[in-house]
Amino acid sequence: MLDVVTRFEEAFADWLGVRSAFAFWKGRVALYAILRALGVGEGDEVILPGYTCVMDVNPVKYLGATPIFVDIEPTTYNLDVRLLEEKITPRTKVVIAQHTYGYPCEMDAILEIASRRGIPVIEDCCLALGSTYKGKRCGTFGVAAYWSFQWNKPFTTGIGGMVTTDDSGLAEKIEVLNRTELKPPSAKAAGMLSLQRIIYRLLIYPRTTALATALFRWLTRKGAVVGSSDTCEFVPEMPPDFFMGMSAGQARAGLREMRRLEKNLAHRREMGHLYDRLLREAGWDVPAIPEAMDPVLVRYPVRVSDKTRAVAEAPKHFVELGTWFECPLHPIETPLELYGYREGMCPVAEKACREVVNLPTHLRAGAATARRTVDFIARASGRAPGVATS
Ligand SMILES: Cc1ncc(COP(=O)(O)O)c(C=O)c1O
Repeated sequence: MLDVVTRFEEAFADWLGVRSAFAFWKGRVALYAILRALGVGEGDEVILPGYTCVMDVNPVKYLGATPIFVDIEPTTYNLDVRLLEEKITPRTKVVIAQHTYGYPCEMDAILEIASRRGIPVIEDCCLALGSTYKGKRCGTFGVAAYWSFQWNKPFTTGIGGMVTTDDSGLAEKIEVLNRTELKPPSAKAAGMLSLQRIIYRLLIYPRTTALATALFRWLTRKGAVVGSSDTCEFVPEMPPDFFMGMSAGQARAGLREMRRLEKNLAHRREMGHLYDRLLREAGWDVPAIPEAMDPVLVRYPVRVSDKTRAVAEAPKHFVELGTWFECPLHPIETPLELYGYREGMCPVAEKACREVVNLPTHLRAGAATARRTVDFIARASGRAPGVATS
C-alpha cells in the first residue's frame, strides 16, 4: 500500500498527465527543489516577472543566484515577452513563466526565445490550476512546474506545494535531493496545520475572510499558528527548516480536494465569466484575453481608481477583496533593495500594484457574492482610468 503522500503525488501527476510529481511543505520549497535540480547557483541569473510574491524570489536568492525582473503586460499581468530577449545574458540559467492570477503566459513565444539559447523554462502554476494555453494545460510546457496549495490558492492543503515534471533526468535529481536532504515536518507543525484546516473549513466565508485574515496574521506574528510565511522569510537568507516535505495530513486534504477538482475549476471559470459581465454592466472596460488562453482564475483581478480606499473599506462591508500584488515583490513589507528591485524597474507592474484588487472565485463565493463585490467596488472606488493600458 502506497503512503498517502505518494498517492497524492500520483493522483496529481495523473490529473496533469505528466510522469512525476513531488510534494513539499510549501510551493516555494517546490521551486527550490527544481532550481537545485537544475544546478542554479552563485553567479547565475534567473528571470521572473516583477509582479510576484517575494516567497518566489527567495529560493533564487537562497542559492546565491540573481533574480532578474521583467516587466509585465497590462492585460494578463504576465511577463511581457517583448522584453524577455533583452534580459537574457550568458549567465541566464532559468526563465520562470508565472501564470499570474491564472492567465496563461504566452508560452509559444517564451519557449521559442528560451529554447533558442538552451535555457530551461519553469512554469509557476501556483495560481493557474486548470488553465490551458492552446488547449494544453499550464504546467505541461516547461521542463518542470510548481504548484501551491496555500490557503488562497486554487485548492488548499493549508499550506503545501508540488513539483511536476516529464523530464526523467530532472525527476531523478529531485529524488536524490529528497532522499538526502528533505526534512519531515514536525509532528507539532503538522498537527497544528490539521487543526487550522478544520477551523478554516468551519469559519472562512467571503463575509468573514478579512477579519479572519487579520487575526491569522496576528497569530502568525505571535508564533501561535503555522503561518504561510514566517518573519524570517522576509530576508533573502534560507531558514534552517526550509527544505521540508509534505505531511500525511496535507496529502489527505489534497486527495480530498482532487475529488472535487473538476467542480472547483468549472465554478472558477463560471465566476470569471460572471465578473466579466457584471463589470461591463458597471462600466468597466474589461480587456479581451487572447483566444489561445482559457484561464481558470484563482482570483479575478480588476483595476480600481482608489485601491487604498477600496481595501480599507471592504472589511467594514464584509467584502472579500484581495490585494495581490501590493508591490512588485508582494507583500508591501518586502525590503525590495535586498532583492535587487529598484523603483521604476517595472513601471507597468508598479502601476498594476497601485490599481489592481482581486475578487473571489472560489467555491464559497457564488453569484450573490460576485454581485455584492462588484457593487461595492463600483461604489467605493470606481474603475481606474485606462483600464487595459499601461
Ligand atoms: C505566484 C506565486 N508563486 C509562488 C508562491 C509561493 O507559494 P507558497 O506560499 O505555497 O510557497 C506564491 C505565494 O504564495 C505566489 O503568489
